[in-house]
Amino acid sequence: MALERTLSIIKPDAVAKNVIGEIYARFEKAGLKVVAAKMQHLSRKEAEGFYAVHRERPFFNALVEFMISGPVMIQALQGDNAILKNRELMGATNPKEAATGTIRADFAESIDANAVHGSDSAENAATEIAYFFATTEVFPR
Ligand code: TYD
Repeated sequence: MALERTLSIIKPDAVAKNVIGEIYARFEKAGLKVVAAKMQHLSRKEAEGFYAVHRERPFFNALVEFMISGPVMIQALQGDNAILKNRELMGATNPKEAATGTIRADFAESIDANAVHGSDSAENAATEIAYFFATTEVFPR
């Protein structure tokens, strides 16, 4: 088992629904530890930069508008196989296809307002954590 870190974002829809604590409890029960965290209302520039890989996709503008529609909760999670484990807790991108008991099945409304983000690879996890947190803001340092 590899000890990994991954970036998680609780998106504006889930923050507005007041389920930050319920989502954190799922991380903790699965053995994922919150090692960095902050609430932030992303600027357009920050959201566009974060989702730059999707710039050419038809849903890009709607995704950015959604991500800046309210505050988000951003955290780095650490644990054995944290990247895959978090993706399993999240469920499929489209909540209609997400397995029962996953975060998206329980809290997401639609494919565009889908409650959470989670890094999908070790390389992206490192880039995404560095996008939001200085090395001094992730513990242990
Ligand atoms: P993606 O990286 O494919 O999914 P995931 O978040 O599960 O890693 O897409 C990033 C986000 O873009 C996704 O969470 C919601 C949005 N999105 C849409 O709005 N419509 C779509 O058809 C897709 C594929 C994604």
